[in-house]
Amino acid sequence: MIVAISPGKVILLGEHGVVYGKPCLSMAISLKVAVNIEKNKEFTVNSLPLDERRHVYIKKAIDKIWDKEPISITTFSQIPSASGLGSSAAITTACVAALLAIKGKFNLEDVAKTSFEVEYEVQGGASPNDTSVCTYGNAILTWEKKMPGYLWATAKDGREWFVYPVKVHDMKVVIGHTGIKSKTPLLIKKIRRFVEYSSFGRELINEMENLVIEGKKALENRDFVKLGSIMNENHKILHTLGASSKEIEKLRLAALKAGAYGAKLTGAGGGGSIIAIGDNPEKIAEAIEKKKGKAYIVSTAKEGVKILK
Ligand code: PMV
Repeated sequence: MIVAISPGKVILLGEHGVVYGKPCLSMAISLKVAVNIEKNKEFTVNSLPLDERRHVYIKKAIDKIWDKEPISITTFSQIPSASGLGSSAAITTACVAALLAIKGKFNLEDVAKTSFEVEYEVQGGASPNDTSVCTYGNAILTWEKKMPGYLWATAKDGREWFVYPVKVHDMKVVIGHTGIKSKTPLLIKKIRRFVEYSSFGRELINEMENLVIEGKKALENRDFVKLGSIMNENHKILHTLGASSKEIEKLRLAALKAGAYGAKLTGAGGGGSIIAIGDNPEKIAEAIEKKKGKAYIVSTAKEGVKILK
């Protein structure tokens, strides 16, 4: 028997832009998933037969790594699914990590690499950001620009990404989940159309670059007022690109009225969640709940995916 635990994530700045190689800043969070693997007579997931459509990420991970006897996989998640909080990335990294560990081949770079392949193939396009932050924990910057000190790098369809560690002291973030499922592949496609067919779309994506780099500095300097105002700017761009929704706007406004320094959608959008930062997380969480959002106050997960034996 083997158990792997992986944190979920929030994207602090730069979602969607990262699909085009722009920088993206994200942080692993204290909501986690666990995957337990045992020998079995047949392949099952949570006691049901392994199903190509229902267990799409797990099936893909098995196809890539596992050539041995049938196993049962049991998952436990604190992360709501399709919420923009990395539930599929965390399930994927935990599953990949556990399978590699059973084969005696567990190492973070291979977990990040295989997990990205799984997400990319399942979603028909993705950046390595989500699976990398779940793998390494803490905070990361994913960017097409090559500089010294990267954790790992990958390339797909003519695009390269380098994943860098970011120094983050323990930080609290308020999440407001709209309760509406965010459909990542659809949102990626919708924004791709905007970016490919209009120069305005491309300008918006380009504008994210400076914002994310300035936001990274603010995070490292613990200047949360500045980070908050950059989050607001980033949200405006995402809204213009078509990634927001009326539920997202409602929760975002509630967070700002409750004194948040900044609030934005996180992840693909179209539903899913917002994140907000401020000096009174409880007050922000209360305001989100009053508007029928589900609030979570989370902190930085210092560790990425790990194996419990
Ligand atoms: O909503 P999530 O957690 O799947 O995040 C998607 C983030 C995107 O930038 C839109 C896509 C990606 O793969 O980076």
